[in-house]
Amino acid sequence: MSQDAAAVNDEPLLVLANVESAYGPIRAIRGVSLKVQRGQIATVLGSNGAGKTTILKTISGIIDPRKGQVLFQGQDITARDPAEIVRRGLSHVPEGREVFPLLSVRDNLLMGAYTRSDRDAVASDMETVFAYFPILRERAGQDAGLLSGGQQQMLAISRALMARPELILLDEPSLGLSPKLTKEIFEIVVRINRERGTTILLVEQNANMALNAADYGYVLENGRIVMEDSCERLREKDDIREFYLGMKDAGVRGERRWKKKKNWR
Ligand SMILES: Nc1ncnc2c1ncn2[C@@H]1O[C@H](COP(=O)(O)OP(=O)(O)OP(=O)(O)O)[C@@H](O)[C@H]1O
Ligand SMILES: [Mg+2]
Repeated sequence: MSQDAAAVNDEPLLVLANVESAYGPIRAIRGVSLKVQRGQIATVLGSNGAGKTTILKTISGIIDPRKGQVLFQGQDITARDPAEIVRRGLSHVPEGREVFPLLSVRDNLLMGAYTRSDRDAVASDMETVFAYFPILRERAGQDAGLLSGGQQQMLAISRALMARPELILLDEPSLGLSPKLTKEIFEIVVRINRERGTTILLVEQNANMALNAADYGYVLENGRIVMEDSCERLREKDDIREFYLGMKDAGVRGERRWKKKKNWR
């Protein structure tokens, strides 16, 4: 491989540089910079209102940022039309799934492929998602609104896959699901990454699941990234163990750290 080709392959698939997005006077994310390497699962951890969903909406063009840049495959996609961003290979699984309740499961899946004209490949991709989530095959003719919450999450992920994306943005897949179902869905997300090579950016409050599934993680607080590292190292950090993994007695300083003000630096 030439040096140039190597350089292209090393380039992150997604880059956010100093992105700021607001809702009127509310600055929801402030100067967020992050990178997602091709083939990785990256995660952004943060509690309610930290700005996780805002990051994903800004990447997929639903919200236009006030400042900063979003680069996908080396190209500037900042504030582009969401449909164009999907065509470029970036699919978004929104918070709360948002399936089309009055359409059948099959038609929801076809909606995910609306940017494609390769019909045979679409049919074979539908077989692939049925292999990941067999329940969707059983329910293919049923209205999506009749699925359980977990099944709707499976459908939302599958609908994103139907666009054959390079990158999937996944907004809190664990929301409202039992621990068992959450585990099942995370296992399939990891399989999709490993088997199809799909890069994934996952935002989650469930740090335990996210840190086990992902390769690299960012911690978001009040709209700012306050920490980043490999998930392996993040899992060992005292602050993460105490505040995100709920391990109160973690770390050598134990008790005393509880009394201290939360401080990430
Ligand atoms: N449509 C909106 N209008 C006004 N403010 C909003 C809107 N959506 C989000 N916000 C505010 O922006 C901030 C970030 O919200 P965001 O939804 O990105 O957080 P989040 O990390 O996804 O939270 P959660 O885990 O609860 O989903 C919050 O203060 C929120 O109140
Ligand atoms: Mg959210």
